[in-house]
Amino acid sequence: MFCVSGLAIHIRQGSQARRSHEQLIRQLLDQGKCPEEGWNESTTELFLNELAVMDSNNFLGNCGVGEREGRVASSLVAQRHYRLIHGIGRSGDIAATQPKAAGSSLLSKLTNSVVLDDLKLSGVQSVASCFVVPMATGMSLTLCFLTLRHKRPKARYIIWPRTDQKSCFKAMITAGFEPVVVENILEGDELGTDLESVDRKMQELGAENILCVHSTTSCFAPRVPDRLEELATMCSKYDIPHVVNNAYGVQSFKCMHLIQQGARVGRIDAFVQSLDKNFMVPVGGAIIAGFNKSFIQEISRMYPGSASASPSLDVLITLLTLGASGYRKLLAERKGSTQDDT
Ligand SMILES: *Cc1c(COP(=O)(O)O)cnc(C)c1O
Ligand SMILES: *[C@@H]1O[C@H](CO)[C@@H](O)[C@H](O)[C@H]1NC(C)=O
Ligand SMILES: *[C@@H]1O[C@H](CO)[C@@H](O)[C@H](O)[C@H]1NC(C)=O
Repeated sequence: MFCVSGLAIHIRQGSQARRSHEQLIRQLLDQGKCPEEGWNESTTELFLNELAVMDSNNFLGNCGVGEREGRVASSLVAQRHYRLIHGIGRSGDIAATQPKAAGSSLLSKLTNSVVLDDLKLSGVQSVASCFVVPMATGMSLTLCFLTLRHKRPKARYIIWPRTDQKSCFKAMITAGFEPVVVENILEGDELGTDLESVDRKMQELGAENILCVHSTTSCFAPRVPDRLEELATMCSKYDIPHVVNNAYGVQSFKCMHLIQQGARVGRIDAFVQSLDKNFMVPVGGAIIAGFNKSFIQEISRMYPGSASASPSLDVLITLLTLGASGYRKLLAERKGSTQDDT
């Protein structure tokens, strides 16, 4: 008798502890936003386990024999991915739901929603949509250019205020376009956008021959961020798309403010940022974001086939662990550091 009643107390305590984890998880699912306070590892692991058991490869009694059943031989590999093996997306749309993998699909949608909230928190309040893509910044820019190609069949050129970084240059070449390099002008000791040259190029080449303007916010001194407001205004005047390379700009209030203002006064079709440079996760992912939901959807549909879920998983774990308050604290620390104005 004594034993059993003692046990009852433990069971009650145990289910209370479980309820408090579950409450946090329910809140996340209801709101799709980063929790204010960061989660501890127990809550996070419980949540990831719950996602994993929703995927068919982890169903009890499952023996997969199809062409892609989420089988892995090594348990270390399974652990490394929290048994979320299916990846995201589905033949031809990285944002599509995979019926065999409800957990992985939920993970992907939830991550995009939490990341969107963070972009707003970092200064681009009117961003409408975004998605995590398992490619670094350069390749993600390429995907944006390839999506625009369908809308502008005559276009051959991309106007690019010069930034000394190889992968953003290659992003244009790989997509099959000819970069039209606009040299910067020296103002004081700063190198910045030559707006007059950009305007002249637009008129010389003709709007329909130009795929887009490819501008940059995050760059190293003496190069300063491009004049996004003016470029965005020119893009809407000539009806030319505008893609912004915001590689490490999420942590900089200045870069995020430029994007917000550019979109307010003119045209910004997409802005791209690195996951590792902004969210302290391994290299291999980026966020493509924009102000027109259906255009961002078009980019996600350009992605051929399915994709790795790892970048989404890493950034979701990181943001849940930090919480919105931890993330804001990091932003404030960066703002205080000298890196912010580069
Ligand atoms: C880091 C960086 C890139 C390229 O990033 P990857 O993620 O390596 O493709 C492009 N442009 C700028 C300005 C960068 O800082
Ligand atoms: C983790 O958080 C949950 C929910 O707030 C709490 O019940 C639990 O005691 C915490 N565990 C640890 C080890 O801090
Ligand atoms: C939004 O994007 C869609 C798809 O590319 C396009 O057809 C539509 O014109 C855009 N809307 C605005 C307001 O730019």
